[in-house]
Amino acid sequence: MEYLVMLPGPTNVPNRVMNAMLAPIINHRSEDFRILYKSIVEKTKKLFQTESDIVLLSSSGTGAVETSVINLVKKGDKVVIPVNGEFSTRLADLIDSWGGQSIRIESPFGENPPYEKFEEVLDQHKDIKALYAVYNETSTGTTIRYMDKLGELCSKKDIFFIADSVSILGGDDLPVDKWNIDLCVTASQKAIAAPPGVSPISVSKKAKKYIQDNPPPTLYFNLKRYFKYFEEHYETPFTPALPLCYAYDEALNLIFEEGLAQRIERHKKCASAFYEGLGAMGLTPFAKPDARSNVVIAVNYLPNIDDKRFRDLLSNEFKVLIAGGFGNLKGKVFRIGSMGEVNKYHVVRTLSAIESAFKMMNIDVPSGAINKALTKI
Ligand SMILES: Cc1ncc(COP(=O)(O)O)c(C=O)c1O
Repeated sequence: MEYLVMLPGPTNVPNRVMNAMLAPIINHRSEDFRILYKSIVEKTKKLFQTESDIVLLSSSGTGAVETSVINLVKKGDKVVIPVNGEFSTRLADLIDSWGGQSIRIESPFGENPPYEKFEEVLDQHKDIKALYAVYNETSTGTTIRYMDKLGELCSKKDIFFIADSVSILGGDDLPVDKWNIDLCVTASQKAIAAPPGVSPISVSKKAKKYIQDNPPPTLYFNLKRYFKYFEEHYETPFTPALPLCYAYDEALNLIFEEGLAQRIERHKKCASAFYEGLGAMGLTPFAKPDARSNVVIAVNYLPNIDDKRFRDLLSNEFKVLIAGGFGNLKGKVFRIGSMGEVNKYHVVRTLSAIESAFKMMNIDVPSGAINKALTKI
């Protein structure tokens, strides 16, 4: 029996998308590839809701995040970044290791700083180059709900706005142009529901001009090369992961067959069903209510629950995969990826497996979680 993959990435991939990878290998310097790549770029623009340039990297999300840093941040550049979890910490460290100077707006894990804090910091420092934000902090199930305001602020201050949207794009609102996002990075294996291995990035006109005038001293993740190859040939500068391009293209087809708005609504409903059902079992979400994610459900463990035993039971007895916590949160929270294909069946099967695992561990939780969850879907 196959696993139900309720991880915060990778997620379940529909058969149609998996089967697309069986298409024959083509010449990536031929009209066959150009047709495929143009189609991918056009659909990705629609998904990002942008007129910006699109680049598809053959890498996981970290490659796209790193690309956003090495193409924009130069030695000594000041970069503001909210930090409240593993991925925002990693990104801030990356900015520093590349020679930038991160100005970290820290907040407790599970909470975002008040929006006013950004105005304050940007007023204090007159020479900020960019604001980086992890839209959905996957390690804590925390989403920034004022990305639109951050975009407006960045426009007003004429600084770059970069969004790490790796774990959220395709599962929640993200109109890139409306929110003035200069670089938006994501990955195929999360809310887009494709296999891991390709990562799209959007690049605004302003960011593109800057990058073309100041390309980084690197080869693979050098965006200037990607612009040139696309403009001259509709190709990528290096050999693309062809089977993954086919799969990603098919995943985009599925997204638009459903409709982006409907897809986002489905994610909202499934998240709300998870929160309701887990709440009925007496569990509490890790993130504060105004920051709760619709794609990653992070939940506090009840006292004295052995994380490994619990997740092993789910995996071995019920074939349901969920994730544990990172760093300090290891053993304190578990995380469910409610993204991509997620629907009523996934929610019910996951909740039922959780309830049963608790029973097997002799942990008493109130019954009725599934009926409560079903009121939300
Ligand atoms: C917010 C965020 N950024 C970056 C990454 C890194 O992506 P990948 O594991 O695909 O390299 C992840 C992965 O979970 C993530 O959730």
